[in-house]
Parts: sequence; structure tokens; C-alpha cells
Amino acid sequence: MLRNALLYLSSQPKVFSFVRHNRMAKGFASRFVAGETLDTALEAVAQLNAKKITASLDLLGEGVRNEKDARDSARQYINMLDRIKKSGLDANVSVKLTAMGLDLDEELCTANMQDILDRAREHETFVRLDMEGSDYTQRTLDIFYNRLFPCYRGNVGIVLQSYMYRALSDVEQANDAGARVRICKGAYKEPASVAYPDKKDVDESYVRCMRALLMNGHYPGIATHDERMITETKRFARENGIESTQFEFQMLYGVRRDLQEKLVREGYRLRVYVPFGTQWYPYLMRRLAERPANVAFITGNVLKEMVGRRG
Ligand code: FDA
Repeated sequence: MLRNALLYLSSQPKVFSFVRHNRMAKGFASRFVAGETLDTALEAVAQLNAKKITASLDLLGEGVRNEKDARDSARQYINMLDRIKKSGLDANVSVKLTAMGLDLDEELCTANMQDILDRAREHETFVRLDMEGSDYTQRTLDIFYNRLFPCYRGNVGIVLQSYMYRALSDVEQANDAGARVRICKGAYKEPASVAYPDKKDVDESYVRCMRALLMNGHYPGIATHDERMITETKRFARENGIESTQFEFQMLYGVRRDLQEKLVREGYRLRVYVPFGTQWYPYLMRRLAERPANVAFITGNVLKEMVGRRG
């Protein structure tokens, strides 16, 4: 119930306007979001790189209101690619198509992505299309396969979500096409008509997708903090003679930092997804929904602050 409530709140802009300048909320967000500016995000990437962890930078901002906003988001991504190149950091970027104008006009969204991918190609780097709620799944894949992947094969990849019933067949399509996939469990509130309601089924689907990607995929990103999924990935790779350089684990900024460092120590590749920007609220609420214990963490800090003020 708490998960559903948090996911509902994640889509309420009025709540965001309320918490946007709240010191406690911002303090908590800083655990999962690398600041509000590109400079703070690049600093976070430098710290990760120093620990032999690569990164994928995400400029937070899901709904754009008009063409100008969408073009501005694309320009910011191009600037991110330039700054990453100039700083010599080991990072790529992750983009949401809604931030490029998918809800306004598919042509505008595609043109924005083409501009970003032209620059990614120039810098020989990579752009990942994040996957959003199920209303966007087919549209995202259509733009990817019909408009972007044929021209920018080595520079663009997609995300698939194991909670979707269609996940394995989408993985097989990507493997056949030669497309790079990040597999995750999925973070949105979905109806039982399109996604497994039970975690057990989501996890089983994740293992099926992971195996298909390791066997027939193209440098897959295994994105999870679930130790059982990670252990199974390592075991499957070992048993099938798949080298640790043929895939990478991926985790979110601020989540299971202990596990992140352990994987690196063991010699696995790890990329951390580093979100930043002023529009941190929906992202933060999805992270809370994944682990409602984080709500207790916030509440605990509020109480500590109240006690501190009295003392
Ligand atoms: P699960 O939710 O079962 O969690 C396993 C364990 O991980 C928990 O028991 C806890 O210990 C830890 N954990 C998980 N989330 C935590 C949190 N927020 N705080 C603290 N601990 C936590 N989703 C999507 O729909 N589209 C996308 O494009 C992406 N992109 C993406 C990129 C990367 C790099 C990652 C790692 C994840 C995504 N996701 C995503 C999010 C993903 O779908 C999923 O919601 C989260 O990764 C949580 O699922 P886990 O696989 O970690 O398992």
C-alpha cells in the first residue's frame, strides 16, 4: 500500500512544489541525486571513477511543457556530452524520451535525439534510452528501432523491464537486431494487464532475460541491487564461459554502495546511474517506493533534527 501511495505521489507536481525548497527533503534527495547542477554531477562522477566505477549521467526532468523546453533539454544533453569529453571522465548519458518531447510530437523528439546522437558519435560515446511507464514502451521501441538504431548502432541502446510480460520477447528482438540492452526490474506503477504483479514472477523473468542477454546479447547492462540476481548472473556467466568484460553490472547512485565496491573488488565492471538536476522529485519518490524503509530514514532524520533544535 505504501509503495502504491509513494508511486501516486511521484506524479503529483503540486507536492513537488511544496517540497522543492524543503531542507529535509533536499538533504534526503542528496543521497540519491548528485546535486542540482552539471558541475556537482561531474564531481560525483569523478569520485566514482576514482573508485574504478563508470557512470551514466541523467538530467532529471520527465515532463516538458513545450517545444522550447524539449529543445533546451536536448541542448543540455549535448553540453553534458561535451563536458564529459573535455573532462576525460568515464561516463555516458541516459535520456528519457519524454524529456525530449515524446508527449508533444514524435518528430520533435526524434530530431532532438538525432542531435544528441550526432554529438555522441562525434565523441565516440554512448546514449541509453531509459524506459518509462508502459504507455511509452512501444513508442520508445518504435523510435529506437525505426529511427535511431539503424543510423547510430554503436552509440545508442535501450532499457527493458522484467516486470513486463513482453520482456523476454523484447530481449530476443534486441539480441537478434544486435542492440545493447540494460535490463532492470521496472520502477513504475503498472496494471496486471501488462506487468507481473508478484515480485517472485518479476524476479524469475529477470533471470530469464539476464540469461538470454548473457548468451546472445551485446554487452548487456545487468541493472539491479538484488544480491540474488547478482549471484545468479555471476554463476551463469562462470558456468557458460562468459568473461566479466562481456557485460557490466549497473546500480543507482547512493544505493547499496557496499555492494558496488564489493563488485569492483571482485573484478566486475560496474556503472552507476547518476541523476542530477532540479526536477528530482519523481525520481526520488520512485526510489522511496522501491524501499519504503527509506521513508523511515527520512522520518528518523526529521526527528533527529527536531531533537537537535531543542538541545
Ligand atoms: P529490488 O527492488 O528487489 O531490490 C533488491 C534490494 O536492493 C533491496 O532489498 C534493497 O536492499 C536494495 N534496494 C533496491 N532499491 C533500493 C533503494 N531505492 N534504496 C535502497 N536500497 C534499495 N527502471 C525503469 O523502469 N526504467 C529505467 O530506465 C531504469 N533504469 C535503471 C538504471 C539502473 C542503472 C538501475 C540500477 C535501475 C534502473 N531502474 C529503471 C530501476 C529498476 O527498475 C528498479 O526499480 C530498481 O533497480 C530496484 O530494483 P532491484 O533490481 O534493485 O531489486
